[in-house]
Amino acid sequence: MKLFSKLAVAAFSATLIATPAAAKNFKVAVGDSGGSSQEATGQGFVKALEELSDGKHTATLFLNGQLGSEQDTVNEAAIGTLDMSILAINNITPFSPSVGVFTLPYVILSLEDAEKLTQGPIGAELTENTIEDAGVRIVAWTYTGFRVLTNSKKPVKSVADLQGLVIRVPKNEIMIETYKSWGISPTPMAWSETFAGLQTKVVDGQDNPYTTINAMKFYEVQKYVTNLRYIFSIEPLIISEQVFQELSAEDQDIILKAGEAATEASATFLREKEAEIKNILIEEGMEISDPENDEAEFIELATKAVWPNFYESIGGIEKLNAVLAEIGRDPVAE
Ligand code: MLT
Repeated sequence: MKLFSKLAVAAFSATLIATPAAAKNFKVAVGDSGGSSQEATGQGFVKALEELSDGKHTATLFLNGQLGSEQDTVNEAAIGTLDMSILAINNITPFSPSVGVFTLPYVILSLEDAEKLTQGPIGAELTENTIEDAGVRIVAWTYTGFRVLTNSKKPVKSVADLQGLVIRVPKNEIMIETYKSWGISPTPMAWSETFAGLQTKVVDGQDNPYTTINAMKFYEVQKYVTNLRYIFSIEPLIISEQVFQELSAEDQDIILKAGEAATEASATFLREKEAEIKNILIEEGMEISDPENDEAEFIELATKAVWPNFYESIGGIEKLNAVLAEIGRDPVAE
């Protein structure tokens, strides 16, 4: 190499070493609208990111599925064309089946269970799995609350009442099988199409937590709410692993710490706002009822028929038993 070229290369390398990592504005897809738990997580993340990076980095939230369906955003983050997404864990399960353990019906029974599981060794293991399987890293957890059933036709208190209703579910095998265990064949539909599906009456109902139902204004197209509480909805903030690996160690640390702050912001939002939001749904004209007999019929059918079908995809019965042990519940036998 000529001396001039050698000098040019040396100067270029020195510039690279001396140049601090570039400021970044992370693009964050958010499946839900403003006022949702997902937005609370997103805002918590943006605030902490700006503070921890002394204003160098920021992030912009693109609410209401503007950047595509929740499942599509996983693909985009995997190939690095999207930085981050906040989405329901049931929409990650098709890409990383072991996270399905958090979608199995009636496993997580409280916000405290959800916090313990996601912030302990099980959450860490599932984060590793999503990196390997789906090319995305979970950096924060949104705790959205229990998914309740809504529909436009009639009050539902029993499995018998459910018959004849057309219910939308995410494209998620565990949720499809759960409704089948209750005797109906649900309609899988992307989240971004759900409001229109309810409005045009292609489907009669759907399930999601109170905070989501309110943020998405489902009270405009749904009347009856049943407190099914079969899944506690967890909605991670994921970052493209490719984007994460391109960051300096210092910036990676900032992202992880901002994620912890976002997780905390989400739990605070649920604790402070859920009861108030339930009342807003009532004021908007929704009728809320509890299933008969403390939901016993729904619980019995779903746990017996659904759990065993998914032992293999979640990594074995021992994975479910580890989750149950972590939250102080009895193990299931083979
Ligand atoms: C779904 O039902 O697909 C999700 O729970 C929607 C959401 O992210 O709120």
